[in-house]
Amino acid sequence: MVPSAFVMLEAIPLTPNGKVDRRALSEFSVKSLKLSTDTFVAPRTPEEKLLANIWASVLGIEQVSIHDSFFELGGHSLLATQLMLRICETFLVDIPLHHLFQSPTVAGIAKIIDTSRQAKIVDTKTIIDLNAEAVLDITIQPPKISVDVFAKPSSIFLTGATGFLGTYLLYDLLMQTRANIYCLIRSSSVAEGKQRLESTLESYSLWNETFHSRIIPIIGDLSEPLLGIPEPQFRHLANQIEIIYHNGAWVNHIYPYSVLKAANVLGTQEVLRLASQIKPKPVHFISTTGVLFSSANVDTDTQIKIVRESDFLDASQVIESGYVQSKWVAENLVREAGLRGLPVCIYRPTRIGGDSQTGISNPNDFLNLAIKGYIQLGKVPILDDKKENIIPVDYASRAIIHISQQTDLLGKTFHLVNPRPILLSDLVNWIRSLGYSLEETAYEQWRTELNHHQENVLYPFLSLFPQDKSSDKKLPRTKVPQFDSQNTLEGLSTDIVCPVVDTELFGIYFSYFWSSGFLARPSGQKTSIQPDLINGVKEI
Ligand SMILES: NC(=O)c1ccc[n+]([C@@H]2O[C@H](COP(=O)([O-])OP(=O)(O)OC[C@H]3O[C@@H](n4cnc5c(N)ncnc54)[C@H](OP(=O)(O)O)[C@@H]3O)[C@@H](O)[C@H]2O)c1
Repeated sequence: MVPSAFVMLEAIPLTPNGKVDRRALSEFSVKSLKLSTDTFVAPRTPEEKLLANIWASVLGIEQVSIHDSFFELGGHSLLATQLMLRICETFLVDIPLHHLFQSPTVAGIAKIIDTSRQAKIVDTKTIIDLNAEAVLDITIQPPKISVDVFAKPSSIFLTGATGFLGTYLLYDLLMQTRANIYCLIRSSSVAEGKQRLESTLESYSLWNETFHSRIIPIIGDLSEPLLGIPEPQFRHLANQIEIIYHNGAWVNHIYPYSVLKAANVLGTQEVLRLASQIKPKPVHFISTTGVLFSSANVDTDTQIKIVRESDFLDASQVIESGYVQSKWVAENLVREAGLRGLPVCIYRPTRIGGDSQTGISNPNDFLNLAIKGYIQLGKVPILDDKKENIIPVDYASRAIIHISQQTDLLGKTFHLVNPRPILLSDLVNWIRSLGYSLEETAYEQWRTELNHHQENVLYPFLSLFPQDKSSDKKLPRTKVPQFDSQNTLEGLSTDIVCPVVDTELFGIYFSYFWSSGFLARPSGQKTSIQPDLINGVKEI
C-alpha cells in the first residue's frame, strides 16, 4: 500500500496508560501533503477561492484542488467540525455537518452554499431507509444440522479486543475458559497484532504471562468482505471456531450512517457469515441501549414507560444518529440470522464507565470528555433533571461472559443497565465538591462559549449540541428510557451485581483521571472535598 500522505510528529502521542494513542495519532493534521499537480483544479469563483483558503488553513496545507476530498486530505471529525463552523461564519449560512460527508469537496460545498442562498433550505438530510439496510445477505444460511453448543469451548472468536469493553471481554474469556481466543485485529503483522493485544491488557492492569500462548491475532478488518481474512483462512476459522463474541464497532457519535455502515453493519454481516459457514456457531452480539432511545420510549406526564428486553423500535422511531442507526441495523441482521437458525444473544449495555476497582476508563468516552470539557470551560449547561445510566466496564464484561456460558439462555436479549441511574446535577455537585469551579449557565450561552474554545475537548462534538435546542431530534434531552433487565437478572448469579455509581465510585474514577494525567487536580482541593468523597478518592 502506498501512503497517501506523510505526517511529521514531534512525539508519538500516548494514552494515559502510556501506550500509543492510535486515535490521537489519526487526529493529526496533514502538514506536508504534496498534491498531485495532474489532478489539481484551481478555484473558479470567488466563493470557491475563499472556500479553498479555509480548507487549506484548516488542513494545514498549501493549496486545495476543488475536487479533492476533505477526508482524503487528512480531514477527520475534529477538523470537519472546525471547517464547517468557519464556512458557516464566513458565508453566513447554516449548513449541517453531514453535508460535508455527502459533498466533501470545495466544488460540492460551493454548490450547497449557492443552493442554500437561493432556496433558503439546506437541511435536506439523506433519508436512510433503515428497513432496506437491514436485509441479511440471502446466502447466509446456517446449515440445518444440530448446533454444537459448547459450554466449555476450546476456540473462541472475539472482535474489538483492543477496545475498552473488548479488553475486559478478552481478559474474562482468558480467565473463565481454557479456550484459545482468536482476536480480529487491524494490524500490519501477526507479531505486531499480538504485541498490541498484550500491551492493551497491560495498560488496563489485566495482563498475566500465562495468557501469552492463548491469544491468537487474526489480521483483518470488519469493514472488508470476509472480514479482510483470506478465504482459505476464513473457511478454516469457520470450521475451528466454536463460539463468537462480536463486540467490535466503530464507536463514533459524529459520523453519519453512510460512513459507519461498512464497519458496523457489513462487518456484522460478515461475522454472521463466519458463524453460518460449515457449522452453525453461537453469536454473542454487543449492541447498545441506544437502539431503544426514542421519545416513544420515555415517560410522559401521564404514563410511565418501561422498556423491556424483548422490545425493539420501528425504523421510523430510531434517533438521528449515524452510530445508533448502524447498531439498530446490525441488531436486526443478528435477529434475522437467529430466525434462520443461528443461535444468537444480544447484549444492550448502557453507557460503560470505568473499572469499579481501579477506576481505569476510556479517555475517549463521551461522559469523560463531557466532564473534562465542563471543567475546562468552568461552566455546565443547565441540566434540568437529566439522568445518566452508567455501568462499570468490569461488571459489563463479567455479566456478558457469565450469561453467555449458560447455553439455555441462547436466543435472548439482555439489558446491561444500572438499576440506579444518577442525576447529572448530582454529578456536577460531586465534581464541585472536589474543588473544581463549575458555573451553571443557560444552554445557548454555554454552547456559544464552547464555540469560542477550540481547544476544549468537547469542541469536536459541537455538532451534537444543536444551536436551537428545540430542534434537536437526536436525543430526548431531559429524559432517558427506563430499562427493564429481567433476563439479565435471571441470568446472573448473585455475586455479579452492578456497582452503585456514587461519590465513592466517582472518587475512584477521579483518582485515575489525576494519576493518568487526563485531568489536572483542582487548586486548593484539599480544603474543599466533602468527607464522604475524600474516602472514595484513593491514590493509584
Ligand atoms: N462504550 C460504551 O459506553 C458502549 C455502550 C453501549 C454499547 N457499546 C458497544 O460496545 C462495543 C465496544 O465498545 P467500546 O466502547 O469498547 O469501543 P472502542 O473502545 O471504540 O473499541 C472498539 C473496538 O472495535 C475495533 N474496531 C473498530 N473498527 C474496526 C474495524 N473496521 N475492523 C476491526 N476492528 C475494528 C477497534 O479496533 P482498533 O483498536 O483497531 O480501533 C476496537 O478494538 C461496541 O459494539 C459498542 O457499540 C459501548
